[in-house]
Amino acid sequence: MFKRFDTLIDTIISRMSLDEKIGQLNQICFSTDPKTIDHIKDMIRKGQVGSLILAASSTAGNDDNSSVNRELLNEFQHVAVNESPNKIPLVFARDVIYGHRTVYPIPLAQSCSFNSSLIEECYSDIAEEASSDGIHWTFSPMLDLCRDPRWGRIIETPGEDPFVAGKIAQAVIKGFQGNFEKGKLVACAKHFIGYGASEAGRDYHHTEISDYSLYNYYLPAFRSAVKSGVGTVMSSFNDINGENVGSSRFYMNDILREHLGFEGFVISDWGAVRLPLRQGTAVNDADCAEQCINAGTDMDMVESSYINNLKALVEEQRVAEQTIDKAVKRILRVKLAKGLFENPYCEAIVFDRQKHLQNSRKLAAESMVLLKNDNKTLPLEKDKNIILIGPFVNERRSLLGSWTLDGRAEETQNLYEAFCETVGKERISNSICGNADTIVLALGETNQMNGEAHSLADISVTQEQKELILRAKATGKRVVGVLFYGRPVALEDVEQYFDAILYAWHSGSCTAHAVCDILFGKTSPSGRLSVTFPKKTGHIPIYYNALRPGKTVNAYYGDVWQGALSACYIDGLANPMYPFGFGLTYTEFSYGEITAEKQELSLSDIENGESFKLKVSVKNIGEFSAKETVQLYVCDKVASVMRPLKELKGYLKKQIEPGEISDFEFELGKEQLGFYLKDGSFKLEKGEFDLYIGENCLTERKITVKII
Ligand code: NOJ
Repeated sequence: MFKRFDTLIDTIISRMSLDEKIGQLNQICFSTDPKTIDHIKDMIRKGQVGSLILAASSTAGNDDNSSVNRELLNEFQHVAVNESPNKIPLVFARDVIYGHRTVYPIPLAQSCSFNSSLIEECYSDIAEEASSDGIHWTFSPMLDLCRDPRWGRIIETPGEDPFVAGKIAQAVIKGFQGNFEKGKLVACAKHFIGYGASEAGRDYHHTEISDYSLYNYYLPAFRSAVKSGVGTVMSSFNDINGENVGSSRFYMNDILREHLGFEGFVISDWGAVRLPLRQGTAVNDADCAEQCINAGTDMDMVESSYINNLKALVEEQRVAEQTIDKAVKRILRVKLAKGLFENPYCEAIVFDRQKHLQNSRKLAAESMVLLKNDNKTLPLEKDKNIILIGPFVNERRSLLGSWTLDGRAEETQNLYEAFCETVGKERISNSICGNADTIVLALGETNQMNGEAHSLADISVTQEQKELILRAKATGKRVVGVLFYGRPVALEDVEQYFDAILYAWHSGSCTAHAVCDILFGKTSPSGRLSVTFPKKTGHIPIYYNALRPGKTVNAYYGDVWQGALSACYIDGLANPMYPFGFGLTYTEFSYGEITAEKQELSLSDIENGESFKLKVSVKNIGEFSAKETVQLYVCDKVASVMRPLKELKGYLKKQIEPGEISDFEFELGKEQLGFYLKDGSFKLEKGEFDLYIGENCLTERKITVKII
């Protein structure tokens, strides 16, 4: 789709000097400091800049807010399109990760909504707000698969499942980019690839990823991003099996360009061109630049390795000028697709902020997961007194999550304010001994406890908060936990003291109101976990789609082996606290039998594109209207290589009224039943497949089909 401009681009490139070409590969930092402004203008005038990143540091999300200055951006652009040698416009980038002025739930929370169309709408809102401030390009979606909640950046990920990640990729990219019309942003799928597998959750660390895992677990989200027409990809900081990714031809060219068919351009992560030097696979900065450009990393974020070295490298014939041309071509493809040559300047656009806030509140409510609700503790009655306590009652900033540059804490309501609006100030007490039957305990972690370079070695609830939980329990009142975290925490020690637990995450500008919508029954909870919750830190990694253990028990699914349930650990079972796909609501659903259009299929028919349908009816047998997320899992029972116990291959989320029966239909074919071999080829094999349909990954409701 990006190649349609290539003839025009060839003409532009034929007029460019080598210096100017190298300038296109250079991204520098924006600044409002008058001395730096002049320096930046001078560089632009000389054709030394392709892009500006509107951020002050590499981990800007948790920095104090730095706002964007549209007038200044237009001044820079004016220099580029009037005074630079070939008048090529600049592209302005900013980390608009999950919101701009209006902040939406952190991506990990969003992925628990299992609601792609709402996510798409929200990202379209975000694009409107950001482009109105002059931003063209954002470094989102982050598509790193992550199985380790110690890793601080799990908050930015879509969780542990490749299928969910693929759906998120599609929704976010469609929402951000549309057809690159006014009010849209160029998206960036990041981090390519494997960053989420950092050993033990230590940020920027080594990863070990087999080729089988690469194709079947890590690449599907990026495959979906490329299919969805993503304009750019960011290379990752990590190495895989000892090979720095951004300087690897295998990952950047053979996999990303040839295997996935990506036509846009690759930007390095911040200063990442220099990483081979630190990792001990390059002798100096020039060596790093040579390796990265030859591998296929097109633009250098911020640390000037390309602009300082590429010209000499071409002269020394270590880098071919055609390689530079290719990188320039890919960058110009995106600049042209975004329409920057016709409309280089930014102008404010009119948008409906109220609608954005409403969408943020809807998505927040759909992202929150009800983990426990004994004796129907929730929903709460509005006309009863409530004790509202805990460190998160008055918290604002943390609700916006750890990567927000433009969200404003002072515009974010806290839980106390939202409670007052919902039930009236007079009903709320902040004393643990107050006159009420129910205590709502607002606990969590701050935005400074997660995010980039903010990992944790222990993901349990802090001692201080544990003590508060025990004090609340000792009152004999009902205890409702509302937990505001950016990652799964290990709840084994405290779960028993709660009557109900709502996992509210850091869900953006409207977090507090969305919590009230759920607690007081305006909305039935409908979030489902996109990531497994371990009982304790020591159980990490734990994920539902693991390969089958041979000799020991299948810990996740709690199977018994030779009568020894505890064979995984001497000190406890290794089944999850809450499994993937899990989440309660206020009603109950009853599932009918699964029916399959066909139970025996020929391999060649499926190879030739034939598909078949599975159906199940779900009845709402409770009293509340609610949404159910029906999940389809596949198990390839015997294959030529080990296959996972279950893999999510479809989901559908629908509102079902009390007494109503709703039909859910899934279509399966080659894509859902096959898998990648370690050489990257896709294979479908004969044999039996168990097809599970149910409410989470532990479902045992299944039908078996045979491929003959
Ligand atoms: C480093 C982060 O890894 C990346 O995700 C982000 O987009 C860049 N910094 C730019 O701020």
